[in-house]
Amino acid sequence: MIHQYMNEIAKEITNIRDQFPILNQRVGKYPLVYLDNAATTQKPQVVIDQLTSYYEQMNSNIHRGAHHLANIATEAYEQTRNIVAQFINASPREINFTSGTTESINLLAYSWGLHTLKKGDNIVISEMEHHANIVPWLFLKDTLGIEVRYIPMLSNATLDTSVLNDLIDDRTQLLSVAYISNAMGTIHPLSEILGVAKSKGVKVHIDAAQAIQHLPIDVHSLGIDFMSFSAHKVYSPMGVGIFWGKAEHLEAMKPFNYGGEMIKEVFMDHATYNDLPYKFEAGTPNVADVIGLGKGINFLSQIGLEAVHQIELALYEYLYQKVEAIEGVKIFSPKDQSIAALSFNVSGIHPFDIGQLLNAKGIAIRTGHHCCQPLMRKLGEEGTCRASLAIYNTFEEIDYFVEQLNNSIHLLR
Ligand code: ALA
Repeated sequence: MIHQYMNEIAKEITNIRDQFPILNQRVGKYPLVYLDNAATTQKPQVVIDQLTSYYEQMNSNIHRGAHHLANIATEAYEQTRNIVAQFINASPREINFTSGTTESINLLAYSWGLHTLKKGDNIVISEMEHHANIVPWLFLKDTLGIEVRYIPMLSNATLDTSVLNDLIDDRTQLLSVAYISNAMGTIHPLSEILGVAKSKGVKVHIDAAQAIQHLPIDVHSLGIDFMSFSAHKVYSPMGVGIFWGKAEHLEAMKPFNYGGEMIKEVFMDHATYNDLPYKFEAGTPNVADVIGLGKGINFLSQIGLEAVHQIELALYEYLYQKVEAIEGVKIFSPKDQSIAALSFNVSGIHPFDIGQLLNAKGIAIRTGHHCCQPLMRKLGEEGTCRASLAIYNTFEEIDYFVEQLNNSIHLLR
């Protein structure tokens, strides 16, 4: 029985959900039940409208033209930089637009790592990272001879932070970890991890791709050095990422891409580089989608991250309880230290088969290694089924998902 608290949350979800037109569609005979939100979130009408109105009323290259369209597009683009800065409590000049989290982490690896690290230095990451926060560091390992060290994952899909003190030594130059695991939904104990890193004077990069839409993040009170995230995970368009860094670090770093816009002066034999933040934004940026991000963040801020957290926690607890009760299901995500993503398998059944049968009933989940092959090897699984939630999912959708998961298991057995 849905009690009073859930009723109130359900009402709030209905109001939010109404703003996402894509959720009204059917997949064949069945209503779409979208539980693949860790892969990408759907977009509210305000974001969709913004994209259309950009191309109907504003389309122009920015920062270059002395004409009306260039001026209004530039203003809207720069306004988004302010919105993002305010959202994470940073300075606008520290906000660099990229194409996504992957490019943001590559920016850090190339512009900082490649020019700063020396053979024998090390970077500490974790066994639970997305490939985007592993492979750029392996590139530096191959190129420079640095070491990549891993905080181990425990069997309950949390990190073994007890080894952190030993992992970080005087050759550690960076700690780079996700705030929330994309594959497991685990919320890592950031304050504990940051406490050790800071006591040892190590720079910290946070991969916030799976956290930015679920938790309030204040880069200053966290006391971190760099952070990356993607617009499309925060109810905004694809193709835009954020790379945030403390101004003093960004000033000291080399540019990432070279070309127009990121220069101050160009001569035949050398060039000088632009001030922050333009130094890291070579070429024509993704103006329409950046402006869409401004609308997406405003949309989320109006709901408020506290309310978002409450809704998602209620949904997650409900989902966890229901899936936990199914015979033969093994849940990998931790019960209490997790949000929004539930990773599980059914004994004797391949995750892909579950995904296919659920899809036939209109339900979208993700199956596979979730770009976390080292994590999957540690778990001893080829892949998992992952159902991931957002603010527009309903308790009824979870009931339907669980019913269909049960049916799929019976069919496949
Ligand atoms: N990194 C995204 C996910 O976890 C695509 O699904």
